[in-house]
Amino acid sequence: MAVSIKSEREIEFMRQAGKILAKVHEELGKAIEPGISTLEIDMLGEKLIRQYDCIPNFLNYHGYPASVCVSVNEEVVHGIPNKNRILKEGDIVSLDAGLIYKGYHSDAARTHYVGKVAPEVQKLVEETRNSFFEGIKMAKAGNHLYDISNAIDAYISQFGYGIVRDLVGHGIGTELHEDPQIPNFRQNRRGLKLQPGMTLAIEPMINMGRADVEWLSDDWTVIAQDRLPSAHYENTILITDGEPEILTML
Ligand code: MF3
Ligand code: CO
Repeated sequence: MAVSIKSEREIEFMRQAGKILAKVHEELGKAIEPGISTLEIDMLGEKLIRQYDCIPNFLNYHGYPASVCVSVNEEVVHGIPNKNRILKEGDIVSLDAGLIYKGYHSDAARTHYVGKVAPEVQKLVEETRNSFFEGIKMAKAGNHLYDISNAIDAYISQFGYGIVRDLVGHGIGTELHEDPQIPNFRQNRRGLKLQPGMTLAIEPMINMGRADVEWLSDDWTVIAQDRLPSAHYENTILITDGEPEILTML
């Protein structure tokens, strides 16, 4: 399938979708503390998204039952919010959320600390975020898609972390998931040439231990097979003539 190039008008909608999602994430971040349930986080997220007259795009996506994916510790992504899952001091929690504004999607994820977190787990979270910024240094018109993948891989490899291979980043626009797929690990080909007007969701998912993941019996929650912590960081970005624009940051 072809990769969509957004018009200036579409880009304005994508910018709005991104800005609103950035605000939603900011509010969600403030709510994270020991004692909150993962369902309360989802309910707050859905309320905020609707307050901005947007639609939660994850809700009912292929049957996903919530607006925010809430993944704790060894859960990599797509954790299902639950009123009985209470966050406690020392946990990390990845929040992945998205919304639709005037027909255009945004998608972003952050991993938060719950109270005080072990230094080695903090490092995993920080380096996962850093790897995103290493990746988008390459997100320029004229470069190739897998320059991004290779940069993330090269950065993460120095720490001995496991880069999740079963899930990847993606194009985004009038659909949540558009072409192309964007792996976070080294590719032997260059991939397509990046062009201004492409909007991409780049989302490294990094395990403290091995890269292998498995699915829980809820058919959604992805966990690290070795049960070590995992972090996720994602933004929707725009390829321009110059530096990439991060649409889901304030
Ligand atoms: N950000 C997630 C992704 O790109 C979207 C999750 S879809 C859901 O994979 F259905 F799980 F919510
Ligand atoms: Co995504």
